[in-house]
Amino acid sequence: MLLYVVGLVAPWFVYRWYKERKRVANKEDKYVYITGCDTGFGNLLARHMDKLGFHVIAACYTEKGEDELKKIASDRLTTFHLDVTDSESVSKTAASIKTLVGRKGLWAVVNNAGVALPSGPTDWLTIDDYKGMLAVNLCGVIDVTLSVLPLIKKARGRVVNVASVFGRVSPFGGPYCVSKFGVESFNDSLRLNMTPFGIKVACIEPGFFRTNVTDVDMMKSNMKKLWERLPQNVKDEYGPEFLKASIDMLDQRFRMLTDSNLMKVVGCMEHAITAVHPRTRYSAGWDAKFFWLPVSYMPTFIMDRLFRKNSPNVKPKVSAL
Ligand SMILES: NC(=O)c1ccc[n+]([C@@H]2O[C@H](COP(=O)([O-])OP(=O)(O)OC[C@H]3O[C@@H](n4cnc5c(N)ncnc54)[C@H](OP(=O)(O)O)[C@@H]3O)[C@@H](O)[C@H]2O)c1
Repeated sequence: MLLYVVGLVAPWFVYRWYKERKRVANKEDKYVYITGCDTGFGNLLARHMDKLGFHVIAACYTEKGEDELKKIASDRLTTFHLDVTDSESVSKTAASIKTLVGRKGLWAVVNNAGVALPSGPTDWLTIDDYKGMLAVNLCGVIDVTLSVLPLIKKARGRVVNVASVFGRVSPFGGPYCVSKFGVESFNDSLRLNMTPFGIKVACIEPGFFRTNVTDVDMMKSNMKKLWERLPQNVKDEYGPEFLKASIDMLDQRFRMLTDSNLMKVVGCMEHAITAVHPRTRYSAGWDAKFFWLPVSYMPTFIMDRLFRKNSPNVKPKVSAL
């Protein structure tokens, strides 16, 4: 029986490997626009695509990010200042890109810019916390994509959206998972709508990687800040031990789980941009492939039990459980 299974699965893997290794031609004529290039995946991708010979349009949030990239990149790399929450900044950047790429059009846009804070139990957050993060992680992705879609149509190019394993499962409160579920949805409808135009749309779903987004000290100080601004009655409901238990768990889990090899994610982004046959979804990282993705297919009662078991031990004083 095992031999039959191996006999069926192995040829499929070989076929997939063969199909996926073909790369697009004329990379020196192709322009790739990446958001959030100051740090993390975006920064590494910009440097990597520059080394491969593409024309990189690296959008940075800060002047410092722009200056540092310019120092180390070739003259094929162009930087722009971009705040994805500011529509004027988005359309100004798109206009400059239109001039830069000319008749060739834009080969790819990588919607990478994102934030992860504030995050915490849902009833610790305000609607403004939600709006602020959705403006970057979701509306920013939509605005940037729409602003350059005509240029991508011209090149019959690619849209690469950076979601997360938390666009598949929602194990903690706050706007992060909401925003990434939104990115997944935008990604899927865009992929269907753009197929007739020859545009390929891919979604990257990384697990836990060591970047600013997963910085433990920033996470801990975010939890403390959220706790401090809570009204006394909500603090009483959770009990005084809850904050410490949450912070201890954050510390332990994040230090244990985060992978420092960002190339695992950047390699997926590169494949989505350069492969003749890119995948529709990329699970980047062992935790994404072997934990978060399988968990996302489990029945809700199993998923909930698993996540509850791994939540801070201290039960709220008014818990109904
Ligand atoms: N690290 C992980 O484990 C992980 C897992 C799954 C998904 N992701 C996603 O991967 C993407 C990249 O994150 P990262 O991990 O590489 O973290 P990162 O180093 O913090 O990168 C995020 C980038 O977005 C920029 N940015 C923030 N707000 C912006 C705005 N309003 N307009 C334009 N740019 C803005 C940041 O600039 P500043 O540095 O100047 O703030 C930064 O360069 C994000 O979408 C994130 O949600 C990360």
